[in-house]
This record gives sequence, C-alpha cells and structure tokens, in this order.
Amino acid sequence: MFISFEGTEGSGKSTQLKLLVERLRASGYKVAVNQEPGGTVIGREIRRVLLDPAHAEMASMTELLLMFASRAQAAAEVILPALSRGDLVVSDRFTDSTLAYQGAARGLGFDLVRNAHRLALGSLQPDLTLCIDLPVEEGLARARHRNEGNQMARSEARFDQQCLDFHLRVRAGYREIAEAEPERVRIVDGSGNSAAVFERVWALVEPALSENRS
Ligand code: TMP
Repeated sequence: MFISFEGTEGSGKSTQLKLLVERLRASGYKVAVNQEPGGTVIGREIRRVLLDPAHAEMASMTELLLMFASRAQAAAEVILPALSRGDLVVSDRFTDSTLAYQGAARGLGFDLVRNAHRLALGSLQPDLTLCIDLPVEEGLARARHRNEGNQMARSEARFDQQCLDFHLRVRAGYREIAEAEPERVRIVDGSGNSAAVFERVWALVEPALSENRS
C-alpha cells in the first residue's frame, strides 16, 4: 500500500508523516519513506536546485520537469522496489503537489501535469492521500517562524516566499483534487495539536490498511 501526505506550507504534514511511520513500524509493518522533491541522493540534489531562494528566475516548466525528475528517480529507487517486496510506502508529497503548485498555483493546468505524470511515472498513484488542511495564513506564519531559527529551512524557502495569493491557489487546487477523487484523497483538518491531528489521520489509515489486507 502506498500512502502520501499533502498540504500547504506549515500545515504539519511532515510531523504527521513521522507519527504515522512510527505507529506503523510499532505495529510491525515494514515501511519505506520517501520525500518529494528529494527521497534519493539524486533527488536531494534536485531539491536543492528547486528550493534555493536564489533561483527566483526558474521557469514554471523547469520547476515541473525537475519535480518529475526527482519523482521518477524515487519511483525507480525507493517506491517500486518497496511495493514489490510487499512493504508499505509513505511519501511526503507526490504528484498531487505538482497538480496544486504547478498546475493550479503556477497556472500550467491539471491536464499538462497529468500528461507529464504519465510520461514519468505511468500509472503509479498512491492508494490513499491525506491532505492536511490549515488556513494558509496560519501555515505560512508557522513556516516563517521555523525558517527564522533554521539555516537549512532558510536555504529551502523559495516557495515559502511566494505571495499569499499563490498559497491560496495551492489550497484551492488541493480541494479541487479531493473533490475529483474523494475515495483516494482525504482532507484532514490540521487544526489543534499534533496528537489531535494524528487521531484524525489514524482514523483514516487504520481502516484502509485492513481493507488492503483483505
Ligand atoms: P516541503 O516543504 O514539503 O518539503 O516541499 C517543498 C516545496 O516544494 C513546497 O513548497 C512545495 C513544493 N513542491 C512543488 O511546488 N511541487 C511539487 O511537485 C512538490 C513535490 C513540491
């Protein structure tokens, strides 16, 4: 089974991913973890290029193709081998991010992103996608607070620095995806502390795991 986490900046999705991986491993599952962009040695090099705030001139199409380059490598190196061993895969972002950020917010459109997905990844899709939803202003405030004290986070701030309207379009993009694929993409209320949000996450993952086993 392949599970992905999605969300706008500072939504808390990476914290939820960590909590889920811990819970799954404690329950005896073998879990491969992936991050987009990133997830492999090559992917992390691509991530550095993509997120560097100095690269303000990057064209939307370059951004899109680099996102898929990282993902194609992760599919070959991490995701497909793990699924064929029968392990679980949990990914911090996947193609729904490209739909929301490059398709909706940058304006490239969903059709173009879906065509690029088919080219790079064929029919590979998560079985379950948890989209952690939080008002954009709240998430951006969290992300900026995190960046202030952290040199690494500052070096990856190119998207955090986009205007509020960009992030509002990302959130609207996620809602559109969830409406189109309500079975796979579940919106999770990201408000409250991480333990409260994790209860909502687990309430969706646990039944999906049993369904997948039967
Ligand atoms: P992160 O903050 O979740 O590590 O993600 C890195 C940034 O990259 C985040 O701002 C969202 C952006 N992104 C895209 O624009 N398109 C994509 O396809 C992916 C995977 C991430």
